[in-house]
Amino acid sequence: MKKRFLLPVALGVLGACNNTASDSKQTAFGTDTTVRDTHTLSNADSVVPKHVSLDLAVDFGTRQLSGTATWQIQNRLGAKEFVTDDAGLQIEQVWADGTPVNFYTSPPVQYLGTALHIPIGSNTQTVRIRYKTGAEASALQWLAPAQTSYKTDSFLYTQSEAIHARSWVPAPDGPGIRFTYDARIRVPKGLLVLMSATNPQAPNDSGIYTFRMEEPVPAYLMALAVGKLEFQKIDDRTGVYAEPGVLSRATWELNEMPKMVQIAEGLYGPYRWGRYDVLILPPGFPIGGMENPRLTFATPTILAGDRSLANLIAHELAHNWSGNLVTSATWNDIWMNEGFTVYFERRITEAMLGKSYVDMLWALGYQDLEKAVVELGPQSRATWLKNDLTGQDPEECLTDVPYEKGSLLLWMLERQAGREKWDAFLKAYFNRHAFGSITTEQFLNELHAQLSDTDSTLEKKIRIREWVYGPGIPDNAPQADSARFTQVNAIRNAFLSSGTIDKAATQAWTTHEWLHFLRNMPRPLTVPQMRYLDGQFGFTKSKNSEIADLWFETAIHAKYITAYPEMEDFLSKVGRQKFLTPLYTALKESDQVALAQRYFETYHNAYHPIAQARLRKLLTGS
Ligand code: BES
Ligand code: ZN
Repeated sequence: MKKRFLLPVALGVLGACNNTASDSKQTAFGTDTTVRDTHTLSNADSVVPKHVSLDLAVDFGTRQLSGTATWQIQNRLGAKEFVTDDAGLQIEQVWADGTPVNFYTSPPVQYLGTALHIPIGSNTQTVRIRYKTGAEASALQWLAPAQTSYKTDSFLYTQSEAIHARSWVPAPDGPGIRFTYDARIRVPKGLLVLMSATNPQAPNDSGIYTFRMEEPVPAYLMALAVGKLEFQKIDDRTGVYAEPGVLSRATWELNEMPKMVQIAEGLYGPYRWGRYDVLILPPGFPIGGMENPRLTFATPTILAGDRSLANLIAHELAHNWSGNLVTSATWNDIWMNEGFTVYFERRITEAMLGKSYVDMLWALGYQDLEKAVVELGPQSRATWLKNDLTGQDPEECLTDVPYEKGSLLLWMLERQAGREKWDAFLKAYFNRHAFGSITTEQFLNELHAQLSDTDSTLEKKIRIREWVYGPGIPDNAPQADSARFTQVNAIRNAFLSSGTIDKAATQAWTTHEWLHFLRNMPRPLTVPQMRYLDGQFGFTKSKNSEIADLWFETAIHAKYITAYPEMEDFLSKVGRQKFLTPLYTALKESDQVALAQRYFETYHNAYHPIAQARLRKLLTGS
């Protein structure tokens, strides 16, 4: 099973994510608009959380956050209690409107954590919770100084999506539950604190920082980072935070951000979040990027030195419309976040780099989707756009399907409606639902109402039900016809038959031509073939993480040990699961599991706890 950045798990485990079609009714999108988020234990439907004020101290010694979260609530339906999500928090004391109350937590539910029950009256306005985070808080990654590039100070960051916010804030935690927040965070002097909120641009002398997020956001968009960080502006609205040794490289690489924001606004309306900054994290960051509002979190592996991996920033930027402004109502609708965002990201890339460039991205995305569908099973429930994840961890089940099948559907809708009409529809959609959430069915209803015409319904035109409530890749899916990849194929074929390459023909290749070239090589290549390619193109020493990762995977299958020292260096610091998983998997599949285990035992501390757990399972089966 191809996952976006998680482990391909063994079949037994996979079964959990691969529920059969008979479990779910094929809903007519005309009727089903009820929203039931089965991944929150809160009662946000009756007690509305309006605002939370955090007052937290960051203790690098005990690796805990401690302090208070004060909720302003609106008890709409005369509920007797306010129930929030909680994953391993140590709750010390709770007050309702200033009076201590007897709270309790219910037994943990698999994947979801526990529910914190707080008695309230019908007029209770505020609930204050004093707590500490637990030792296993899944949202938190604490880095020792050695794991940073600066090496002198500790570092902490959060990753709240999908359902980890509850491990650091007692909060009703669902994509359909929005609230505003403010925060006061205390840290050791000299460190800078950043959140998905108004941010400082330099450290202060007190070590106390305050924040405001005045737009309502779901809990998964709450974020915190603490470290030795510096800021550099790109223009008046955009800038970059990074560790001092990384900052100038990062600013150079992300220099096109102002243009991206401008293009995005030109497509789908104003950017509504004030500033747009990017935080480049240390290399252990487990994913590529996270769209925390006002401050995208990103892996340093996008710093290729040639701006070629900046489309990740286009993706996270695009989420400020698709995801942050208009949010999937439940994790079952996650394609409405990720598929919309891939589509939007490619529109930005098209405007920046042209059609022939973005056609390569569409083609690579199609390859990812085909692979995922083969691995999941072409008829499997997990290949529907609309998920049914009740009783499952929403993240475990995240594959390329919501990203690539979702974006393909939008691309097809664009082609069907015509770009002008389609863009007007999308722009109006973002405005209409701004700061709200949306289900797949609501979207389909609106689409149906606006894009059907008198002689033909949407269903007739594109068989949209098959796309959303059916498996595999429907046969009317659009496909990019990439002339640039046709040339790559010719060169690859010539190499495979002659053993040599006309180097001049590859001179103008970008990262994405190389990815297509390497990805579609037969496996394993022979050592002489590997040696030739390496001699010509220096892949083993590539500073481009995407190319290096793919080359190392190719090298593992070919047992081309010349590349192993560089590969080991990569595994010793990069925590991005999209890279780690294929490498460890390749080692395992090619009878080099003992080597994989040695690498893992030596370097696992560089990885996020969740990544560690997944890799351990991959390597040892437990
Ligand atoms: N929002 C996602 C990350 C995410 C999704 C985390 C679901 C947890 C659960 C983010 O926008 C994303 O998709 N990141 C990608 C990069 C992107 C260019 C496809 C990643 O990290 O690989
Ligand atoms: Zn995304």
